[in-house]
Amino acid sequence: MSATPFLSVTDLRVDYPIPGGVHRAVDDLSFTVERGGSLAIVGESGCGKSTVARSLVRLLKPTAGRIELDGVDLAPLSERRMRPLRHRVQMVFQDPYGSLDPHSTAQEIVAEPLRVAGVRDRAQRAKRAAELLDRVGLPTSALHRRPAEFSGGQRQRIGIARALASSPELLICDEATSALDVSVQAQVLRLLRELREESDLTFIVISHNLGVVREISSEIIVMRDGRLVESGPTERVLAAPAEPYTRALRRAALDPAAMRGRKPRSVVNTVSARDRGPSKGEAA
Ligand SMILES: Nc1ncnc2c1ncn2[C@@H]1O[C@H](COP(=O)(O)OP(=O)(O)O)[C@@H](O)[C@H]1O
Ligand SMILES: [Mg+2]
Repeated sequence: MSATPFLSVTDLRVDYPIPGGVHRAVDDLSFTVERGGSLAIVGESGCGKSTVARSLVRLLKPTAGRIELDGVDLAPLSERRMRPLRHRVQMVFQDPYGSLDPHSTAQEIVAEPLRVAGVRDRAQRAKRAAELLDRVGLPTSALHRRPAEFSGGQRQRIGIARALASSPELLICDEATSALDVSVQAQVLRLLRELREESDLTFIVISHNLGVVREISSEIIVMRDGRLVESGPTERVLAAPAEPYTRALRRAALDPAAMRGRKPRSVVNTVSARDRGPSKGEAA
């Protein structure tokens, strides 16, 4: 075993320009992930999770800090130097609909990254795309259908197949199941868990839903206002959160109505405000 973690993020900082200054969305965030490991990033809406994800896939260039993948710092690389590395880190988005070309068939969508990666043989691309769509649980009849003809869960499977087409080493799922019904969410989670178990793919799962996190990640980091507030093994952090903020998130997650997304995010704010008061002997 090498002593270098597969992914090492150090003092990551992202400032967004806003009128009259900058908004610091990620503030000196550091964490590591082992190869084949799984890390969840949790925290309420606006805390900077997607900004971290966009930095890791280099959809944006961080303001400061290092993103070392196998010891190579991706953070300062130019677009040109990033290009040959892009396939290594892939992302599954919350709303695949927005990112799936409406005019292409499922098979074409999944074959496209293969073309970009230089697979010249069209038949070979089509065959690999069909295998990937099969792997994510879509029937053969799906191959020639277009995004509008699929359900949300099926579209998310296409998004996962497309991400896998690049043979990534790191897969980032940014609220990949949040838009789905609870039962469909469970099916997609099962697929992600299988993928994790059958390969040495490394996962980063971003979610505001601690139920989701518990299903697929062994490690967790909790973010608030761009900063890390707590980290450790998922079971330990969720069983005995040290931080009031994590306790509040956990309580919101245990509330079934909150799980269905019915409750506004003020649930967390209200509870954490209460938690900030004198200790109430909250059972961990
Ligand atoms: N392009 C942008 N310009 C300015 N502010 C942004 C931009 N994108 C996100 N933000 C702000 O940065 C913070 C973090 O956003 P985001 O990473 O999307 O959080 P999360 O994914 O946890 O909901 C939020 O306050 C958000 O409003
Ligand atoms: Mg987000």
